[in-house]
Amino acid sequence: MHRIAILTAGGDTPALNATIFGAVERANERRVEVFGILDGFVGLLDPRLPHVPLNPLFSTIPELDPHHGGTLLGGSRAYIGPDDVQIIERIVERLGRLKIEGLLCVGGDGTTNAVQCLAERFPCVLAPKTIDNDLGLNYLEEPNDWSSRPAQASRALEYHKAWSRPEIGLDEIINYATPGFATAVFVVAQGVQRIRTTAEGHRRIAIIEVMGRQTGHLALASAYGQPDLILIPEVPLSLPVLLERVRALYELQKHVVIVVGEAIVDAEGKRLGSASSSVDPAGNVAFSGAAESLRQLLVQSLGDDYFRPVAHTRAESAIFTRKVGHTQRGGRPILFDRFYATQLGGCAFDLLWEGHNLAMSTLQWTPAEGFHLGSFPTNQLRDRCGVIHPRLVHPSFYDPLKLWPSKAGIEYLLPIFSNAVGPEDLEHLRGSLFRPGNLTIPYHSINVDIAKQTRWLDQSQ
Ligand code: F6P
Repeated sequence: MHRIAILTAGGDTPALNATIFGAVERANERRVEVFGILDGFVGLLDPRLPHVPLNPLFSTIPELDPHHGGTLLGGSRAYIGPDDVQIIERIVERLGRLKIEGLLCVGGDGTTNAVQCLAERFPCVLAPKTIDNDLGLNYLEEPNDWSSRPAQASRALEYHKAWSRPEIGLDEIINYATPGFATAVFVVAQGVQRIRTTAEGHRRIAIIEVMGRQTGHLALASAYGQPDLILIPEVPLSLPVLLERVRALYELQKHVVIVVGEAIVDAEGKRLGSASSSVDPAGNVAFSGAAESLRQLLVQSLGDDYFRPVAHTRAESAIFTRKVGHTQRGGRPILFDRFYATQLGGCAFDLLWEGHNLAMSTLQWTPAEGFHLGSFPTNQLRDRCGVIHPRLVHPSFYDPLKLWPSKAGIEYLLPIFSNAVGPEDLEHLRGSLFRPGNLTIPYHSINVDIAKQTRWLDQSQ
């Protein structure tokens, strides 16, 4: 193998450059050239195949900085599907003209699906990423727990998960944590702590909405910021339970902080916010308004008289919402993400080198070994109908009465976060944020440097 390509697809995470870095460094050792394809699958779909050599003379370009969030290659949510036969043909031909012998995609479930169609014609491997922490399995047989039935309102299928395993061992988890998750939690936990003090001072109820789509891993791990209550999308909201907890807390401490996953559902399983009808090419709907809907529910249920004696204001103003938003997906990755993303990138390169196809590098954990690398055939993520579902928070990880991670959930989180922040992360913050030069030197975007190094396929051939 002499030359491979790498791309980043789907939503970004702070750890993408670290993954690319790990793959490129390993390629240097093997004296394999790596071309970065720009803008994810959009780049592959472009007849000019925009690309950047990432290791000329087997030396990693300085622009590829594992400490820098985002992706120097750019990303997109465009994908290809099994019906795009001619498009796939053209992509294979373009990659062939560049003498690319294998493709390493850094992505999540959408990328895994897109890669599937290409892999029939071309060796492809995956390095996992997503702040949602939903690429993987709670246990090996988990895909068999999914069933489908036609949806009532449309011709689409509805998927249902029956949990065949009430408990799991942490060493059974396939891909324990995805790069990007830890940094996102770092941001969320700090956000919760900051909102706490203002809610506390003004006797308010704060509802903080975090990302994660249908999965509540980010909400669950927000426990590190010590909110009072956590609602995850996997467990339908019980309004009586929530109100009882909110009243008890408000009466005791004169404020409450609630974290909600963006796709929480009511007792009937209906989304509290709205899910846009438009989906991205991977079939993902965009969620919005969960926190606001919960706020309305609390305003109606608690009423103005409840707040007047303590907050001296109406329920509408006493209860406020905040979205952590895209800050949880951006910025500098913390140590856990940098370290393991780099390893996972290197491991994915090795998979290509060893001749695997449709395999992904994984991060495994056992009590005896701690974190270590593994690999997994991506097709084993699929259910009986061939669908890859997001890994949901296992029911044993969440206590639906305390609205908090259960003992098992806490045991799951501990290995990831106990040493997730390194001293240099703090030192970087201390040295960089209030650097006098920030006031005089404009931000220099990596995109400017990459544009200068971008090459295209010769169209005259
Ligand atoms: O899948 C990653 C994710 O960050 C989700 O948690 C979130 O719902 C979504 O992407 C947001 O996507 P976009 O940046 O396209 O709005």
